Amino acid sequence: MLHSMPDLLSWRPRFPILADKTYLINNSLGAMPASVVDSLREYTDLWATEGVVAWDTWLPEVANTAAILEDIIGAPRGSMTMCQNVTNALAEILSCLEYDAPRNEIVHCAGEFPTVEYLLDGQQRLGARVVRVGSDPLVFPEEELLAAITDRTVLVVLSHVLFRTAELVDVRPFVEKAHQFGALVVLDAYQSMGAVPFNVADLDVDFLVGGSVKWLCGGPGAGYLYAHPNIVDRLEPRLAGWFSHSRPFGFEAPPIEYAAGIERFTGGTPNIPAYYQAREGYRIIREVGVPAIRENARRHSQILIDGALARGYTVNTPLDFESRGNHVTIDMAGAPQVKDELIRRGFVVDYRPGAGIRVAPHFYNTGEECLAILDEMAEILRTARS
Ligand SMILES: Cc1ncc(COP(=O)(O)O)c(C=O)c1O
Repeated sequence: MLHSMPDLLSWRPRFPILADKTYLINNSLGAMPASVVDSLREYTDLWATEGVVAWDTWLPEVANTAAILEDIIGAPRGSMTMCQNVTNALAEILSCLEYDAPRNEIVHCAGEFPTVEYLLDGQQRLGARVVRVGSDPLVFPEEELLAAITDRTVLVVLSHVLFRTAELVDVRPFVEKAHQFGALVVLDAYQSMGAVPFNVADLDVDFLVGGSVKWLCGGPGAGYLYAHPNIVDRLEPRLAGWFSHSRPFGFEAPPIEYAAGIERFTGGTPNIPAYYQAREGYRIIREVGVPAIRENARRHSQILIDGALARGYTVNTPLDFESRGNHVTIDMAGAPQVKDELIRRGFVVDYRPGAGIRVAPHFYNTGEECLAILDEMAEILRTARS
């Protein structure tokens, strides 16, 4: 087998879609592990047979699921919790902030995912000043972004890997500068979780947010939030619910007495079935190991980049492996139509306007599949011209 690690390929039968499709869009929706069916059955069986008593098993699954993620990124036990998505996780964080001028600025760049930008934009109604650095979402404005962090900054929001270009951001200089000025840092790790090895404690960010649908193969509905253990007990989220209380089953009158640690971010009733679903992908990623996933991506992304450049396509992803995550964005005239035709032919990818076709092989893909999609793109374009 060309350009593939055989031990990783032994996982292929565990992902049913791989039998039928050339599935190369794992930074958008990772393939479903077959075991999700049994895990969801476990959840429904509990409901069907135990009724309300199922909560005794369901509730601990919130922390148990988060613990798998803690293992993956070296987060201390009990420093992460589950939520629905990045939007909710970030809203929780924002609800802890005060925007007292002059320290009322939130700094971020134009390449952030729109959900983040919309949420930040809305903070202006509460007195925040949103400093949006850069204008071309394909260019990460490193120097400008660093310069925008001042003693007026309350929060810096950064993507670890930019969703359009796959640029991998070295977050350390931003964290250092933010902390020097007394600001907090949120890392949106959606595109790096399960793809790029990192240790959240080493990065020293104050918060990390992400979701599960991409490289973690966890499907929709399961987001997560990490808060640095040194600050978590000082945070008072306004977006609090009864599960944020230290005694949720005391049903006490306000003011809330926050639960210790990360549990104060739980909010309302947890999204249990999503966690039963997501834990299957998380367990596989933990077992395979992110360093092995990354090493495999080195080969696969290089095949894609070399092949795309050789065919005269534009590559909107950094050419240096250390500066990119695990997907490759390839553009050409007619890219949206090429994407549609690729999907019709069983090569599953997506397209992002202004960026190109995103091709995202995971550990279960082969080098042959990467070569095959390049040939298929060329064939589609040849047919379109003739
Ligand atoms: C970097 C990044 N952040 C956030 C999101 C999505 O946010 P949410 O989980 O709120 O849907 C995505 C993609 O879906 C993403 O690529």
